Amino acid sequence: MQVVKYVFQPHGDERGQLVALEELKDIPFKIKRVYYLYATLKGVVRGYHAHKSLEQIIICIHGSCKIRLDNGQESKIIPLERPYEGLYVASNMWREMFDFSPDAVLLVLASELYDERDYIRNYDEFLAYINNAPMGEKK
Ligand code: TYD
Repeated sequence: MQVVKYVFQPHGDERGQLVALEELKDIPFKIKRVYYLYATLKGVVRGYHAHKSLEQIIICIHGSCKIRLDNGQESKIIPLERPYEGLYVASNMWREMFDFSPDAVLLVLASELYDERDYIRNYDEFLAYINNAPMGEKK
């Protein structure tokens, strides 16, 4: 399983750092939605879903956390702790976010508006979906 991390160009000078992200340039899709997670409590695991068509870039702009990506065959844990790094999460990829530091702010750039119909929130359903088998027909 290939993990795609984008390393963004910080425009640093003696005042500090600045990262600018432009759609279809730094980000490989048109950004339709931005959201962020913060004040995540200790021990919490979020995510537990995949998307049928939405793509994302996930950036831990402050603090740190870990993301587990699972394509149905393989799973990898990716630490996110640098504000200039973005993890690309393709469609049809199960994700779980955990190990949030108390100060973690996780910024998500998404290719689609929020639409619950694009979510797969059950892991067995996810496996059936990516294997193109209707639910209940898998052995
Ligand atoms: P949820 O999907 O549970 O977050 P995660 O998968 O990261 O654990 O979302 C939490 C709540 O926020 C849920 O009620 C749906 C709502 N929500 C929106 O209204 N718009 C959004 O863009 C997102 C991502 C979530």
